[in-house]
Amino acid sequence: MNIDGKTKIYGIMANPVAHSMSPLLQNLYAERTKVNACYVPFQVEQDDVKAAMEGAFALHIQGMNVTVPHKEAVIPYLSEIDETAAAVGAVNTLVRTEHGYKGYNTDVPGLLRAMTEAGIVIRGRSCIVIGAGGAAKAAVYMLVSEGAAVVYVLNRSMERAEELAAYMNSLFGKTAVIPLPITAHAGIPQGRYLAIQTTSVGMHPDTASAPITDPDFYDKIEEAVDVIYTPSETRFMKLVEAHGGRAVNGLYMLLYQGVRGFELWNPGVQVEAETVEEARALIEVLLLKNQKKQSGNILLIGFMGAGKTNVGACYAAAHMLPMVDTDKLIEISSGMSITRMFAEKGEAEFRRRETAMLRQLLDTETVVPQKTMIATGGGLPVKEENRALLRQLGTVIYLRTSVDTVLERLKGDTQRPLLQGDNVREKVEQLMALRDPIYLETAHGVIDTDGRTPEAIAVEIERIEAENKINP
Ligand code: S3P
Repeated sequence: MNIDGKTKIYGIMANPVAHSMSPLLQNLYAERTKVNACYVPFQVEQDDVKAAMEGAFALHIQGMNVTVPHKEAVIPYLSEIDETAAAVGAVNTLVRTEHGYKGYNTDVPGLLRAMTEAGIVIRGRSCIVIGAGGAAKAAVYMLVSEGAAVVYVLNRSMERAEELAAYMNSLFGKTAVIPLPITAHAGIPQGRYLAIQTTSVGMHPDTASAPITDPDFYDKIEEAVDVIYTPSETRFMKLVEAHGGRAVNGLYMLLYQGVRGFELWNPGVQVEAETVEEARALIEVLLLKNQKKQSGNILLIGFMGAGKTNVGACYAAAHMLPMVDTDKLIEISSGMSITRMFAEKGEAEFRRRETAMLRQLLDTETVVPQKTMIATGGGLPVKEENRALLRQLGTVIYLRTSVDTVLERLKGDTQRPLLQGDNVREKVEQLMALRDPIYLETAHGVIDTDGRTPEAIAVEIERIEAENKINP
């Protein structure tokens, strides 16, 4: 790449950004089409979205991709928004205009093109979308726009599925979308459906999981797309195929959303099919390398006083592993104790930092270069986003304790803001009732720790790790 005075600058804003495939893709597209452009990663913090966009505009940055967690946050600062992006409420591409950036959503046409090229017909089809988050919204919108007869939305939280269905039905002025809790998938009438899997369940390294495992469900699936592309064949795809269906992964969606963005930035320039294939091959190699780097961390979750730190230290010492503790990392990076953070900044700030810390840990190149024992704060798995991040980071183990043990161990503790004041037993009982099901749902394995030594528990961890073998 020759950078000179006329090189146009593009980039991607995200946080974290180091894992992004877009710089590789976009620079290849520019090189092959002989466009004098350079595409770079920009790490942008949540509170800096407005400043980043203003700064980018002032610097004459010609366009940007936007990804997690900023796809919605950029919308208020756009000068214009394209119809599809407005409809799905998410922007992943910014195109510079005279007055500011115009926002587009190229995930929708990217998914459509990936499906069309795979020979999948949408018009008149009965469809199922798994998940009700941002990617699900794009998928449902695309399916209804392209003339799907009906779209069932299956989601763990019925409320979100209902919200998505109500929004789309009112947008299109017809009842095309039907929400269902994922556990009630049997309520979908018999038939041969087109399914789109939009959740992160089954993504590397959590490759043993699928959002639905009931074989009866897969009897209904004729064709399927999993938006995940690592691993290249998810458990969901394998289940579809085992029941006679056809399944494709999300790699071409990624490639084509990038092509669409590139073509929006460079009107009249076309990315050839062979360039897309070249990008696909490059990405596949990179993904394999990254998978090797993700070295099967062990994460301990559980209530305050469950012994996460002690057990973690014991296991780490026995296996010569590095160990980190999310609470300690947050204290170090913020320069204040957790007690002080709760008092001065509030719990919400601490929770925001917990998620940011998990994201940073996932970014293995910067923080955790090798297999690591990770002890976590007791409230960390409560946020759904954190649960997904935990499982992506490695094998998650729930150290379970009774209320009595917690009270016994934390007698006189002054370090845990949530357990100060009167009625500590009541507080622990309430929190435990709320969190125990969450811990169980998150963990790959559970160890009852009452009356057991850290050494004995460490042996149990080895057993669970061996059983799960989810990490290469
Ligand atoms: C918390 C547990 C603490 C710490 C913070 C909040 C919780 O960690 O993260 O005080 O919500 O349960 P430990 O579980 O290590 O005590």
